[in-house]
Parts: sequence; C-alpha cells; structure tokens
Amino acid sequence: MAKATSRLAIRPIHPCVGALVEGVDLAQPLDQPTFRAIFEAFQEYSVLVFREQRLTDEQQMAFSERFGPLETTISSLGRENHLHPNLVDLSNLDPEHGGRLMDWTDRRMVYQSGNQLWHSDSSFKPVPALASLLSAREVPPLGGETEFASMRYAYATLSEETRRPRAGEVVVHSILYSRSTIARGLFDAERERQLPPVRQALVRANPVNGRQSIFVGSHAWYIEGMPAGESRRLLDDLLAHTTRSACVYQHRWQPCDLVMWDNRCVLHRGRPWDAARHRRVMRRTTVAGEGPTADPPFARRTPAWEGIIPEGVGV
Ligand code: OGA
Ligand code: MN
Repeated sequence: MAKATSRLAIRPIHPCVGALVEGVDLAQPLDQPTFRAIFEAFQEYSVLVFREQRLTDEQQMAFSERFGPLETTISSLGRENHLHPNLVDLSNLDPEHGGRLMDWTDRRMVYQSGNQLWHSDSSFKPVPALASLLSAREVPPLGGETEFASMRYAYATLSEETRRPRAGEVVVHSILYSRSTIARGLFDAERERQLPPVRQALVRANPVNGRQSIFVGSHAWYIEGMPAGESRRLLDDLLAHTTRSACVYQHRWQPCDLVMWDNRCVLHRGRPWDAARHRRVMRRTTVAGEGPTADPPFARRTPAWEGIIPEGVGV
C-alpha cells in the first residue's frame, strides 16, 4: 500500500487542460499519499484521465466520495437517477423496455442532448458541483466523445480590457433557459417551480491555489444589471473564447476509462453518435460544491428578464 504513490505517473495530455494518470487502481481503497497526489493533480490540471479502471458503481461512488459528499441528481424526464440517487445513468438504453436502443427522436434523448451544449455540471443549482466523474461502460465505435475546455486558461488569456471589469459581476443561470434552447416542454410545471434561476459569480477562484477562472456555459442566462443584448453578446463571446478549438481536449472513450473534471473551472460537452445503432453507457458521480458562489444564491425576477425569456419558459 505505502508504495502506491511511487507507481503513480501524471503527465499533461493537452497544452491547455488535463492530465493522464497512470499506475493506480481506483477499485482499491487508496492510501492517503496516493489520494493526496491525485487531489493535487486535480487542482492543477482540472481534468484527469484514468484508463483501464474496471469499476463497479459502488467503487466509483467510494472513490468519488474521497473528494467530498456526492450530489443527488434532479429527477428528470430521462430518469437518469433510476439506479441510485448519487448516480447518473447516461445511456441510450431504454430502462423501461428491456434496454432497447433509444435514438435522438426519443424525448429522453432530447433531454440528454442538453449535454452536447458546453456546460459546467449543476451551475443551475444554488451550490454548483465541484467535480464530476464519468466512467465508460460501453462506447460506440465512432462519435460520442467528450470535450473539455478550461475556463481558467480562458480567464488568463482574456484581454486586459475584458478581464478587468468582470470581478464582482453576477450571472444568472437556469436549466429551464438552457433546455429551452433545444426544445420546449422538457419540464412540467411542477418541476419548473423546483428549478428557480440562481446567481453565480462570473469570476471565481480555486480555494486551494487561488487560480482565477471565468464561470459561464449553457445555463448562463444573463448578466445582472446589463442590457439584455449586451449581456448575451458578452456571454457568447466568453464562451467562444473559452472553447476555441486549439483550447479543447477531446476525449475519445475506451471502455473502462474514468475521466474526472473540475466543474469550477472546466466546461465540457458530449458529442453525438449514431444512437439508433450503437450503445453508449456511461455512469456519472458528482461531488457537491462547497457553497454558493454569489450572495444571495437565488435570483429575483427583475425587468432585465423581459425580452430574454424564450417563449415557452415558464419561470
Ligand atoms: C456529463 C456529461 C457528456 C457525455 O456526464 O455530465 O455532460 O459525453 N456528459 O456523456
Ligand atoms: Mn455534464
């Protein structure tokens, strides 16, 4: 056990974000020095890729919990939480029909396709997620990659004029807003009421090393106190800057890969695949964040909303 750290090899996988971690078996309980080295690599590299990790759901949850308490997943149209409250079942197998393949016309897959927009997990919750851990159980032969882009690198490479006035600004995030950009009526009225818009800081710092990052993504609806058009343009520009292709690490999945990422400073998105013909089965655990990023956490209805709310979003 004590020798475990000496086998650990951590090396960058992309100039802007991510590292490959080798020499560790995450199915085993990790000794403290090994866990510490992984924890530090996570703070430094933001995305960690582990290959050949044959994990049961319980082992995945146990490793994830070393980083903190796990989030429970919102109950959604896709019933992604049907296996366990702390586990997201991301797959195109229909649990109600013996694992028959669901294609992109299925409402549950339309809901899931929200993952193909650049986002940070749970940025629509008052306490956004710290980390997500996604393990590949079955992967399609083509497509279905996951892409990552660093909002820390994005912050560091903003022009001085763009960066300076950003500190202290607040962005209102809403999953009703982000899902409304792909389809209508994905939430019923009761669920909509349970998902009020939340406030997030536009610039956040990592509490361990102080490194600053912007915080945007598909749930980012508008910047408080800014005219709607200007707010939309700035959020779109920040997203485009963060996700320019030279800054994106694309992960091509192999079965038994586990990838974990830092939702505080990384955006990610899934890529499409031929869901009518190929199975893709992934399991995600999500480590809860440490607290709200802006005070107070919930947004109030303000005149700024007028003209921004897309039709059909009943917030
Ligand atoms: C997620 C997610 C994308 C994918 O698990 O949070 O966005 O490629 N996944 O499955
Ligand atoms: Mn996600």
